[in-house]
This record gives sequence, structure tokens and C-alpha cells, in this order.
Amino acid sequence: MARSVQFELRLAERMSRLGTETAFEVLNRARDLERQGKNVIHLEIGEPDFATPPNIVEAAIAALHAGWTHYGPSAGYAELREAIAEEVSRSRRVEVTPDEVVVVPGGKPIIFFSILALIDQGDEVIYPNPGFPIYESMINYVGGRAVPIRLREEKDFRFDVEEFRGLIGDRTKLIILNSPQNPTGGVLSKQDVEQIADAIGDREILVLSDEIYSRLLFEGKHHSIISEPGFKDRTILLDGFSKSYAMTGWRIGYGVMRSDLAGQISRLMTNSNSCTASFSQMAGVEALEGDQSSVERMRQEFERRRDMVVPVINRIRGFSARTPHGAFYIFPNITGTGLSSKELADRLLEEAGVACLSGASFGEFGEGYLRLSVANSMENLERALERIERWIEKSI
Ligand SMILES: Cc1ncc(COP(=O)(O)O)c(C=O)c1O
Repeated sequence: MARSVQFELRLAERMSRLGTETAFEVLNRARDLERQGKNVIHLEIGEPDFATPPNIVEAAIAALHAGWTHYGPSAGYAELREAIAEEVSRSRRVEVTPDEVVVVPGGKPIIFFSILALIDQGDEVIYPNPGFPIYESMINYVGGRAVPIRLREEKDFRFDVEEFRGLIGDRTKLIILNSPQNPTGGVLSKQDVEQIADAIGDREILVLSDEIYSRLLFEGKHHSIISEPGFKDRTILLDGFSKSYAMTGWRIGYGVMRSDLAGQISRLMTNSNSCTASFSQMAGVEALEGDQSSVERMRQEFERRRDMVVPVINRIRGFSARTPHGAFYIFPNITGTGLSSKELADRLLEEAGVACLSGASFGEFGEGYLRLSVANSMENLERALERIERWIEKSI
């Protein structure tokens, strides 16, 4: 006889420490409002609004027809790992070999797997705050101690290297860098990177350098700590295809790291995903080796939008924004509105029909800011700014 057994779900204790990425929650709330007939302009999600370039789509279709539909090696196909090793060697001016490359489903798993593989209970990890929320979430999840380095507006959201130096201690096991940065658009200069390397010195500390926005830079050149003397084998470089090639839904990214760690990350891949989708990997080869003009076109368009949005935001009462130097986010200071970040973001969504993210969802030092993504058309950005301005005039 069939029995119905009901009981309370008892999760593992560690689940209480797992955070989230608010962008997906706000997107769901915005979609609910749209189903109720409301019009919402989406400035919350961090993905290019462009289609994946056609040469990459064609390569994936050809790969599907050619039978790239099976399991592959956990670390990724040799063809793609070679292409990545070549690209990183050229762009970061270091010698990278394919056995130092692990291909994973997006950039995110490199964060997940690196922290899982390296951090024990009580190990300290220094990470940028405000910053991509998955860093703090994963550090807490594995029982590590999350040590925030505050990114300050007055420093253009770069590091205060002296403050950073003071955070490095005996228990520091990993340091996370992210440049260009989500959510602030801050970019570390060559001098910043050199000073950070100098502060770390010859300690046995690894650096997870999240460079997913490395091709979306508006001023200056990208500098990676992997290029600093003595850091090649202490850096886990995270990069991928999602942002540069508008491939967020393809789920493909990679890490470059010393080969012994690469082997361990591959083991985590074997235990979780088995491998990254084979046809996505073939599309990845085309992305890296094919025509690059679409990357530059998208970059220029993000720059054009940034240049339109920042001056308009600065005319809105209670808002003030610095000009971001990379990525596709604007991070205005909204303390002049007298509202908390969350209340303002909630009310802009419900009452003005503009979805954006509270700065506090990027960590405690994000309070007082909002994140607006410029990954939307110029026309929608103009409409969104008009809505925000009108709402502020009426409600504040
Ligand atoms: C700083 C940062 N790192 C990593 C990722 C993850 O990228 P992917 O979609 O390739 O997993 C994101 C995505 O928003 C990001 O902003």
C-alpha cells in the first residue's frame, strides 16, 4: 500500500551559509510584474544584450552536425585548451601550456571549484567589497573567513594598497582580485597591480584573478597579476566567453593555473559536471581564433552608452556617479536620496518600472549605491533614466 510520508526538510548546516546572486531574484520579480501587465525596463542583469556573433553560432551548428555531442575530457578538449593557452600567453605575456588550462561551464565554476579545493575551516580569503556576491557566498559556504577589502569611491573603486597590506596575515590563503570590476566598473592600474604583488611578496598565497571583463575596458590597458614576476604559479586566472563574446547562455569559461591545481579542479569537474558541453567548446575555439571585430564593436557600444548615461545620472537629484573605466555597469552613490539602497531599488522597480540592483547586494560596503547595467539599448536606457528622474521628483 502506498504511504504518504511528510517531514520537515533538514538541510546540511552549511546550506545556511550559502548566499546568492540577487540579480536573478530581481529578474524573477520583474518578470512577475510584467506578467501582471506592468512595463519594466531591465537594468538588473549582467549580460550583453547582443546576439552571439554569427561566426561562433555557425561553428556550434557545424560542431553539432559533426557529432560533437558526446562526453569529452573533464578539463576540456585539447583543441580549446591549446587555443586558450595561446590567447592567454599572448594577452598576458606569460608562457601558458594547455595542461595549465581547465575549461568549465562558465567563469563562475572557477570561483566555486577554487574555493572548494583550497579553503579549509578558518582559512582567510581577502575579497573585494562591494564585489561579485559569489565570492563571499562561497567563502562562507566552505567555512572560510571572508575578509573584505573595501573599494572606496574616492579611490575610483580601486584598492587602497596600504589598507590591503594590513589585511594580509598568517591565515590568508587566497586573495581575490577582479578588474574590471563588477559592480563598480573600477579598474586596477598597472601600478596598483605591481603594488598588490609587492604587498603579497613571496608569501605562499594564491591569487584568484577574476578577469571576465578584461576585454571590456574603456581606458588604458588591462594588467593581470599573472604577468608579475613570481606570480605565474600563484595565480588562478579566471576568464571566459560570457561577457566578451555575448555567450552567457552557452555556459563556457576557463581557469589558468599551475598544472597540479588544474588536475584537482578537473577532478571536481569529473565529480560534478563531467565536462563542459562539447559543441560549446568548439564554438569557443572559433570565438578565440575567428574574427574579433564583434568584440570591439560591442565594447564601443558599451562605451557610447556609458558616456550618455553618466552625465544624465549626475543631473538626477540625490544621485552622483563616477565614470566607470570598464565592464558594463554604473554604480551611482544614492545617499542623497535619503533612502537605503534596497528601498530605492525596490521602489524603482515597483513604482517606476526600472529594475536595477541594490548596492548592498554586493556586500556591506555597497550600501548607499545602486548598480545599473548599460547592457540595454540606448533608447531603453534613456527611457529608464527619464522614469527614475520623474519618480525622484515626485516621491523624494
Ligand atoms: C565578476 C564576475 N565573475 C564571474 C562571473 C560569471 O560569469 P559566467 O556567466 O561566465 O559564469 C560574472 C558574471 O556576472 C561576474 O560578474
